[in-house]
Amino acid sequence: MKIEPFGVEQWMNAWETRCAHNLAETCVESLTLSELAGMAGFDLSELAGLKMTYGAIRGSEGLRTAVADLYTGKGPEDVLICHGTIGANHMVYQALIEPGDHVVSICPTYQQHVSIPRSLGAEVTELWLREADGWLPDLDALEGLVRDGTKVISLTNPNNPTGALIEAEGLARIVRIARGAGAWVLCDEVYRGTERGVGRPPSICDLYEKGISTAGMSKAFSLAGVRLGWIVGPAELLEACELHRDYTTISVGMVDDWLATRALGVKETIWARGRGITTANLAALEDWLSRNPLRFVPPSAGTVGLLSYERDDPSYALCERLLSDTGVLLTPGAVLGMEGTLRIGFGNPVAEFAAGLRAMDGWFGS
Ligand SMILES: Cc1ncc(COP(=O)(O)O)c(C=O)c1O
Repeated sequence: MKIEPFGVEQWMNAWETRCAHNLAETCVESLTLSELAGMAGFDLSELAGLKMTYGAIRGSEGLRTAVADLYTGKGPEDVLICHGTIGANHMVYQALIEPGDHVVSICPTYQQHVSIPRSLGAEVTELWLREADGWLPDLDALEGLVRDGTKVISLTNPNNPTGALIEAEGLARIVRIARGAGAWVLCDEVYRGTERGVGRPPSICDLYEKGISTAGMSKAFSLAGVRLGWIVGPAELLEACELHRDYTTISVGMVDDWLATRALGVKETIWARGRGITTANLAALEDWLSRNPLRFVPPSAGTVGLLSYERDDPSYALCERLLSDTGVLLTPGAVLGMEGTLRIGFGNPVAEFAAGLRAMDGWFGS
């Protein structure tokens, strides 16, 4: 199976360990094991007694119950545990997509949602977000792109890379459009829990009988090193995913299952910490933007946003020059299909983020 290179991952792999100020990160600053233990009230020595078997194949009952509690009226049977959100998304496409299927993907997005269905032989139609719309999708346009028999509509909500958040009304319209065509909706909700000053919008799996929510421990939960994610959706979908899962996963790690269960038990504490970090960093960014000639739509959720610039420079070369002159790593819009923009992450510790902003103060002109 041929697949396009994953633009963002290749950029990050090349540079993330070779920069002084990594403002390209998408996670809220990761927790140490001791910090998690402090928050969740366990002793790390408890891990010593864990027997290193495969564990529960679908994920432990306690973990799936804790995941189900993130949604409305869901139980452990509605949850399938995967290797990260990335594994969850991959499995959904493997289970659903046949050559010739039609997929509509709201872009920019995490590239999996375009490149995997395309690699499986689907025709993928991209609906691009626009800055002038506050990076929210034009749902009339979506309606025009979805056709009878469209297999999947996919989106990330909150969105990576813009941070834009589609709220309940917009999601309800997406469901109406999907239902009219008989399409599944795959909503990658890995940034859910990062909302600032707005309520947490519903999950697609709670809104639609063919709604599939994926998420994981990496972003809002600050535990990317716990390689664990999940799929929540109707039984028929989970069964189709399990067929593939037996070939690719067996189970996730016992330690990951154990740690994720405890983190989910203190989700509000972890989310509040993340909100504190991103809110403070966004205020610092707003102040920096008052002196630097870039546009930005302040996002009400997520850990990343897009800076738009007016110069002619291609974003890739611009990011390389910025890195070499200032030590600051941003992500070029080119690797997201968004030339003329730069993605900035604001989940770093507040002092580190401020140091990164200081290092590039004035670099873009004034
Ligand atoms: C929208 C989105 N989905 C999935 C992933 C992968 O997440 P995980 O590390 O939980 O596998 C990322 C990582 O950046 C992401 O931004």
